Amino acid sequence: MKRSTPATEDYLETIYELTKSKGYAKVVDISRKLGVKPPTVTIMIQKLSKNGLLKYERYRDISLTQPGKTIAKNISDRHSKIMKFLTILGVDKKTAYVDTEGIEHHMHPSTLKRIHELVLFAEKNPKWLDGLKKFHGKKHNY
Ligand code: FE2
Repeated sequence: MKRSTPATEDYLETIYELTKSKGYAKVVDISRKLGVKPPTVTIMIQKLSKNGLLKYERYRDISLTQPGKTIAKNISDRHSKIMKFLTILGVDKKTAYVDTEGIEHHMHPSTLKRIHELVLFAEKNPKWLDGLKKFHGKKHNY
């Protein structure tokens, strides 16, 4: 599958998250979440609609098509794996979120796979994780 561009991914991810939490996605909510002006959102939404990734009619809710959902789920999955990894490293939640948003679009799938393996390893080996925490020399919110 061809990888979509970061901007496209941000939109799909945001629409996916909004739909999951609120049941719908509107231009105004996307605009607020991404920090871009509503007309800019509308242009992008029209483009994504043309590309068959979402359904959009003026003044209606925005919904992802099946191909759009597949890409969005993939991004969301990538996001949660990187978040878990940074949290294990002891990065605070807020920073971990900001950093995840920054790097999630640029990570090679094989790197992500290794990161995910480390997360699984840490989850299965609490002693190893405790050792890491002690090495850090302070308590973290795991
Ligand atoms: Fe994300």
